[in-house]
Amino acid sequence: MMMGKVLKTLIMAASSASPASALIRDRKVPGRGTVRHCLVGTEMVDWLLGLSPEVHSRAQASAMWQVLLDEQVILALSKEHQFKDKFVFYRFHEDAEGRGDGPAGRKPGQDAVRDAQQKKDEVISTLTQLAPDAVLKAILRKPTHDRSPDDLEIIYEELVHIRALSHLSTTVKRELANIIVFESHPRAETVLFNQGDEGVSWYVILKGSVNVVIHGKGVVTTLQDGDDFGQLALINNAPRAATIITREDGCQFLRVDKDDFNRILRDVEANTVRLKEHGRDVLVLEKVSANPSAAHRHSASYTVMAGMPQKMLEHLLETRLDARHLSVRDEDIIRPYSSATDMFLDDFLLTHIMFMPTHQLITELMRNYRIESPTQDKEFVVASKSRVVNFVYQWVTSIRDPVFDETITHSFFEVLSLIKANNSAIHSAPTPLLYLSHSFAFASSSPWQRLKLGLLIIMYSRLSLDSTRLAHVPLLSILAALREYFRGIPVNATAETIKLNAADKLGLRHEELVLAEIKSNGEKSVIADTEVSIATCLSINGRIFVSPKDHLDAMTVLPDQEGPSDGTCNELEMFSTRELAYYITLIDWDLFCSVHEYELLYHVAGAQPFRKIKSNLDLFLRRFNEIQYWVVTEICLANTLGKRVQLLRKFIKLAAYCKEFQNLNAFFALVMGLSNVAVSRLTQTWERLPSKLRKMFTEFDGLIEPSRNHRAYRIAVGKLQPPILPFMPLLLKDMTFTHEGNRTLLDSAGLINFEKMHMLAQTMRTLRYCRSRQLLLQPPTPRSEQEVRNYIRNLRVIDNQRILTGLSQRLEPKRA
Ligand code: CMP
Repeated sequence: MMMGKVLKTLIMAASSASPASALIRDRKVPGRGTVRHCLVGTEMVDWLLGLSPEVHSRAQASAMWQVLLDEQVILALSKEHQFKDKFVFYRFHEDAEGRGDGPAGRKPGQDAVRDAQQKKDEVISTLTQLAPDAVLKAILRKPTHDRSPDDLEIIYEELVHIRALSHLSTTVKRELANIIVFESHPRAETVLFNQGDEGVSWYVILKGSVNVVIHGKGVVTTLQDGDDFGQLALINNAPRAATIITREDGCQFLRVDKDDFNRILRDVEANTVRLKEHGRDVLVLEKVSANPSAAHRHSASYTVMAGMPQKMLEHLLETRLDARHLSVRDEDIIRPYSSATDMFLDDFLLTHIMFMPTHQLITELMRNYRIESPTQDKEFVVASKSRVVNFVYQWVTSIRDPVFDETITHSFFEVLSLIKANNSAIHSAPTPLLYLSHSFAFASSSPWQRLKLGLLIIMYSRLSLDSTRLAHVPLLSILAALREYFRGIPVNATAETIKLNAADKLGLRHEELVLAEIKSNGEKSVIADTEVSIATCLSINGRIFVSPKDHLDAMTVLPDQEGPSDGTCNELEMFSTRELAYYITLIDWDLFCSVHEYELLYHVAGAQPFRKIKSNLDLFLRRFNEIQYWVVTEICLANTLGKRVQLLRKFIKLAAYCKEFQNLNAFFALVMGLSNVAVSRLTQTWERLPSKLRKMFTEFDGLIEPSRNHRAYRIAVGKLQPPILPFMPLLLKDMTFTHEGNRTLLDSAGLINFEKMHMLAQTMRTLRYCRSRQLLLQPPTPRSEQEVRNYIRNLRVIDNQRILTGLSQRLEPKRA
């Protein structure tokens, strides 16, 4: 204002001599009649050039006027922001106020003129300094198609010095120079955009700072000049994750609009995007080039590498749960090896229990569901709610039963079920939700039960999996026996509960008792009070004993733990091999389908922290061992060479059928049984085997060969289509390897290593993929169906390696 006053005084003083040619005078303006106290661009430039030898070009003089225009000391009649050295009209701000008798008309006094002359040099020098910046801004304000090569050079020079752009190549910066625009906001507290708005541009802060504000959290961070923001909505094609508000007057930004961003920046944006809240990293995204093919040039997307649990959920809801993101096909969910599809939602659902227990998840969902605010528009509130509902739908369909394990889930679902069909959240929701809302119609006692009922129908129509399959447990001999001992004790009972039960029956104090497993080889292990699912964790011929503490040493193996003393060779010979393989596979399939993906997590991270059981997995693994020992037991109990050769043939053929039925778990168990030292050392037996079978076995042995991380098996299984019964121990090995080789927490503040969660989920998805199609084997022509079924369900084996080796040595003593 001061500089404007000085210049105006000098103009007035000069023009008092010849008012008719004065710089400031009333002029006829086309379309507006006579406008008072006007100046013309070209004349203003002429005048400034004549004022001081410091001003040496028209461009420089224009730039100096530009400074005053930016500061609104002068105004363009056309309201344009760029000063033009043309026949364009300007006025001093104070003259534009509309007072005809204002200071404009008055001649400045002598004192004022003297004062202005004294300040002249200082004013010229200040304007000269500010001019380049003003020019840059003016160029940036020009319509992009009007930028001259010189303009582009000036912009490029500026971009080189901006921190947020430092990772970009020269070419990209030059491209940006063509399209980047200037945006300024004179007042503090200006909202640039709101959380939930559609993302239309990306910003870099040139001057000033902004607050990042999130619903329910307030200001989460402050960004300064050199920082950028607004990329998240563009790269994820999602609504704005935060509201941006200027913190001070005169904030200036560079802005790139969405189409340009996608064309120039999307694929070259920084590899890592880090979001902070209160100075801490809360979300780290990393770029993945989803599809390298030329057809999808703008296909780069970002995956979550790390994050705070709460922030990851927020990000998930914002970016993956809108109706338009939910067009996920079933194949995408179940296909384990395709990194092309975005797995963030599925990864989160499969692994959240590792870093965000269900009750915490529900609390957060509840918070996101209950966003109510008079300042946010209705659309935002409805969108937030419907995202939560979509999340719940995905959660229940993909995780099934465990979702309902905690009572807090029930009360939350009750809240959700109350939304009923007349709520707009339902109306605007995608089809699955309508399906869900249909289920509310079920006449049933409580809303959540109705909901569960509805959901269960969906669940069963997808994959028929649930833990009630544990009802099949007694199929297995050992459990039949255990059931007699512990009838009525649930599988998830702790060792302590079992002890209390026993103490009651025995009339002893439970503090004096120990619970121990005694294996068939005499090994004893005391079971800790907190352990759960004890029955299913036992070794094959292991037994649980309850005894007074001081009697532990005296406990010995029971005779029946040693296993059978006679083989079943004759019986086996009567069964068709195909029929045997068929029923083995049916049982395995049943057990396999009962294993929940979560059980793999419980297996690696320990079941106790989750207070959950992994009994289905235990049983499946037990069955593996059982089949393996069955092979060894039968061969070692066959006391003539002829019988042994027959059995060898039978088991190799059985393995071949299992392989054909894609039951790789039983296939491994059989081949490993045949490779057990007690069998493999029987050279006379193997010598008598027809060469065709021997070749077959060598091939099978190559398939189970563990070298190079089970490469042979992995290649073979990779070629199969579901249904597949995978070699479970390898999946567990993969899980353990991932779990032990990677930290879950990246810092003490609780930043989760989500990359690890993704790896764990990949293995868990394998499980889902393998059983994504029902097992529909052609049943064999029934010969002895009932006998085979009974036989297969009640395998009796010796699981003591010492006994087996002993038997083997007796059959074929070592040659001298
Ligand atoms: P976008 O979602 O497009 O709009 C809001 C922007 O705020 C977002 O992109 C980020 O660039 C920026 N931002 C900075 N910190 C955070 C944060 N902790 N959470 C969300 N957005 C953030």
